[in-house]
Amino acid sequence: MRHLLDTDGLGRDQAIALLDTAAEFSGIQERKVQKLPTLRGVTVANLFFEDSTRTRLSFESAAKKLSADVITFTGQGSSLSKGESLKDTAQTIEAMGTQIMVVRHSSSGAAWRLAHSGWLNSSVVNAGDGTHAHPTQALLDAYTMRSRLHGAAATGKDLDGVRVVIVGDIAHSRVARSNVHLLNTLGAEVTLVAPKTLMPTGVDKWSVTTQNNFDEALAGSPDVVMMLRVQHERMKGSHFPSPREYVSRYGLSAERFQSLKESTLVMHPGPMNRGVEISSVAADSPQSTILEQVTNGVWVRMAVLYSVYQQGDAR
Ligand code: CP
Repeated sequence: MRHLLDTDGLGRDQAIALLDTAAEFSGIQERKVQKLPTLRGVTVANLFFEDSTRTRLSFESAAKKLSADVITFTGQGSSLSKGESLKDTAQTIEAMGTQIMVVRHSSSGAAWRLAHSGWLNSSVVNAGDGTHAHPTQALLDAYTMRSRLHGAAATGKDLDGVRVVIVGDIAHSRVARSNVHLLNTLGAEVTLVAPKTLMPTGVDKWSVTTQNNFDEALAGSPDVVMMLRVQHERMKGSHFPSPREYVSRYGLSAERFQSLKESTLVMHPGPMNRGVEISSVAADSPQSTILEQVTNGVWVRMAVLYSVYQQGDAR
């Protein structure tokens, strides 16, 4: 795996190896100095053409824990405003001596283009492209499910038979797409819940069950409920009648949360809109893994940076 562009190219053994490597890296929490020499002398460039809090800082933290040097580009305040292209921006940054580029962009396919156009020698890691893919989010979600459900015996295991309900704006969600690929690969059973207008076209060809009624999906006693933000910034028109109706039909309210079995995990990739897709009662409960997902993201991104660097080593 020289690049990581989506989860659909990951086989079961490859995905499990990444999760196991992340679990190994998580062991540095026990050390006094939480740093390894693994990527000493390597430069990781974070290219964030689109806003981010978790992913950008998590990649930065992961790279630094592996002793890599990190340079960061954000769209705001850059020469993009003077018309510089994606190609010229990336090549300019690589000319400063990078081996890995972590890329977030609002256009689906931007990371693929950087990886496969022959413009760069660096390994490319997709940190979210448009509505297409967010592979490290899916990996950290799978890591979190695996560690919560299998505990200390998680290493080497998949998610066979785990019932996952993903709720909300599936149509615009790169998180949902990457999660569906990876969860299918790891053996989980996925149900997508959304109003018809927020289901992606072609969803009937995905290996999932679809449902427009959230309460009916919850009646199936899922192991995991993953809530998604409504991505107004990616919508061209109105996709549901009113925010109030959306909250009432698709929000994880206190009442819906209290109807869950005590072992059901409540997940959210963030950023969350409290009182819209998720109530504070659910978000702040012991069943919520939201902050754990953030912590696990660092271990998973360490594993990804390490793996792509190893595979790209022959460059
Ligand atoms: N989950 C996620 O991608 O969050 P950010 O947009 O803050 O990176």
